Amino acid sequence: MCGIVGYIAKPENSGEASREYFALDVVLEGLRRLEYRGYDSAGVAVYADGAIDWRKKAGKVAKLEEEIAQRPLADSVLGIGHTRWATHGGPSDINSHPHVVAGGKLAVVHNGIIENFAELKTELTELGYNFVSETDTEVAATALAHAFEQERDLTRAMRKVCQRFEGAFTLLGIHADQPDRIVAARRDSPLVIGLGEGENFLGSDVSGFIDYTKQAVEMGNDQVVTITADDIAITDYEGNPAEGKSFHIEWDAAAAKKDGFGSFMEKEIHDQPAAVRDTLFGRFDEQGRLTLDEVHIEESLLKSVDKIIVIACGTAAYAGHVARYAIEHWCRIPTEVELAHEFRYRDPIVTPRTLVVALSQSGETMDTLMAVRHAREQGAKVIAICNTQGSSIPREADAALYTHAGPEIAVASTKAFLAQITATYLLGLYLAQLRGNMFTDEVQMVISELRQMPEKIEAVIDNKAQVAELAKSMQDATSVLFLGRHVGFPVALEGALKLKEIAYLHAEGFAAGELKHGPIALVEEGQPVFVIVPSPRGRDSLHSKVVSNIQEVRARGAITLVIAEEGDTAVEDYANHVIRIPQAPTLMQPLLATVPLQIFACVMAETKGYDVDQPRNLAKSVTVE
Ligand code: M6R
Repeated sequence: MCGIVGYIAKPENSGEASREYFALDVVLEGLRRLEYRGYDSAGVAVYADGAIDWRKKAGKVAKLEEEIAQRPLADSVLGIGHTRWATHGGPSDINSHPHVVAGGKLAVVHNGIIENFAELKTELTELGYNFVSETDTEVAATALAHAFEQERDLTRAMRKVCQRFEGAFTLLGIHADQPDRIVAARRDSPLVIGLGEGENFLGSDVSGFIDYTKQAVEMGNDQVVTITADDIAITDYEGNPAEGKSFHIEWDAAAAKKDGFGSFMEKEIHDQPAAVRDTLFGRFDEQGRLTLDEVHIEESLLKSVDKIIVIACGTAAYAGHVARYAIEHWCRIPTEVELAHEFRYRDPIVTPRTLVVALSQSGETMDTLMAVRHAREQGAKVIAICNTQGSSIPREADAALYTHAGPEIAVASTKAFLAQITATYLLGLYLAQLRGNMFTDEVQMVISELRQMPEKIEAVIDNKAQVAELAKSMQDATSVLFLGRHVGFPVALEGALKLKEIAYLHAEGFAAGELKHGPIALVEEGQPVFVIVPSPRGRDSLHSKVVSNIQEVRARGAITLVIAEEGDTAVEDYANHVIRIPQAPTLMQPLLATVPLQIFACVMAETKGYDVDQPRNLAKSVTVE
C-alpha cells in the first residue's frame, strides 16, 4: 500500500549532459509503475534553485501529471514521489504526500501507519507546531523537522525520530539544507535501493526504478539509509553501520508494460504459460532430479517434518489450498492452510518439526510477514514462496523459493496464482523425493505432466472468445456462484474472488458437496453457476459426483457454465454452456480451469466499464494489518 520513489544524481548526469532525464522524469516513471500499490492520490517534491518545490493531487498519477503540466516544476537532480492508499485521512489534495514542513524546507513521503501519532502530535503542538492535514505523515514530518533543528543533520534526525515511532513505516525525507541526499527509514514496510552510476534510487519495490538499473540492495528492518549520488550508507537506528544485501534484478522493464493489451490483467493472463514455464526452469539436475538449490534447510530437518502449515492471504491462500491436496497426496505429511491474519491470533500448534510455507506474490503482505515471524519464534522453519526479489518475507524466512512470474501489476492476481501452484508442487515433489515417499520415476512423471502445462494453458487462452461472449451476455447478473470439488474447490473460490474484486459482483465459491447443506437455497431461475468438473479419468467417483451437482442446480433453474475436459461428454446434457479445457490429471487441472474464470471476470469488468487493473478500495500489496 502506497508506492514510494526517490532519486538523486550528480548534476552532470542529468539533462543536457550524459542522461536525458531529470529527477521528475525518474520519479514520475517510478510512480506510474508503482501506482498499483495505491491510487487515491499522488505527489512529488524536487529540490531546485536552493528550495524544495512540490505538487500533489487527489486522484491517480495522471491527475498529478496534469497538475505539473499546468504548473511545471524546475529541472532537478533530487526528487521523491508518492502514490497513496489512504489510511489516516481521506484522499484529498491536502492529505496527499509529500508533506512539506519546516517553512517549505523538509519534504516527507510515507508508507505505513505511525501508530503513536496522536501522542506525538500533542507533544509537537505543545512545542508550537501546527498541522494542516489529518495524516500521521504530517506528524512524522514535523517530528523529523523538529529533530533536524536539534541535530542539523537529516540522517541523525531520521534515526532519532524512528526510535520514537511505533507501527510499520517507510519514510523518505529531503531537506533544502542538505540537498545532496535522500534519507530513508523502514520498519516492517517495503523499501529497496537501486544502484546507478552517479545516481541512486529508492523504491517500494524494484519496479520503481527498473527502467534505470538492474542492481539493487535490500535493507533490513529498523534501518536508515542515506543515499547520495555516489554512495549509500545503511545504519541501524542507533547509527551502527549495517550491510545491505545486493542482488541483480531479474525482472525485465518491458515485462511491466501492457504490451498492446487493454489492461495489465489481460496481459498477465496471457503471461501465464511463461510464468509456469519459468517457475519450472532451472530446478532440475542433469538426471532430471529436482534440486531446489534455494532451499537451504538441512535435509535431516526436512525429513523430520511432521506437519506443514501454509500461510497466505487472498489468492495466495487459494493456491495454498490447491497445494494441500498435492502435498498430502505425495508426501503424506498433514498439511494445513491458514489465512495469515488468523494464524497468529489462534495460538497455533507449531513445533520445530513444523514446516511453514509462506505464500506471497509481493513478499510484503503484512499479515503474512507477521505470521512468518510468529512461526519462527515458535521454532518452525519457514520457506517463503514469493515473486518479488528484495521483499521482506523471503528475507525473513529460512529459505526462499521464487516464482518467476515477472512483475504482476494488476491488483487482481492471475499469473502469480498459477506460478504459486507450480512452485508449491515443486516443493511437494522435492519433499516426497527427499523423504522417499515417491520413486524417482514417479516424481519425473509428475514433472513431465507439469512441463506440458504451459502449452495446455495456451490452448485455454486461445479459447478466450467463447468465455468473453459469455461474460458479456451475463453482464446484468447480480450474483454468480462457483462450485468445485477437491482441487476444483479452491479454483471455485478463486473464480469468485476475481469477480468480486474487479467486477464488483456478488460471487461465492462453494465445495460442490456442501451445496445441499445450504447454498442450494440461493439457486433460482436464471442464476449463473460455474461448475469445475474434474477429469473423468481421475480418482474414484469425483467426476460423477460433480456431474450430479450440475444436475441439481440445473433442475432448480440455474444457468450452468461448465468447465470440463475435452471429450467429457457426460456433462453435455446438463450444461447450458461447456467451456473446454485440455485433458490433464486432476492435480494439474487448477492450472487450466482457473484461466477461463480469470478471463470471465476481466471481460465482465471491462464490459461494465470498470478499471480492471485498479479496482476500487483495493491495493496490490497490503502492507498494513
Ligand atoms: O502479495 P500477496 O500474494 O501476499 O497478496 C495476497 C493477497 O492480498 C492477494 O492475493 C489478493 O487477494 C489479490 N488482490 C487477489 O487477486
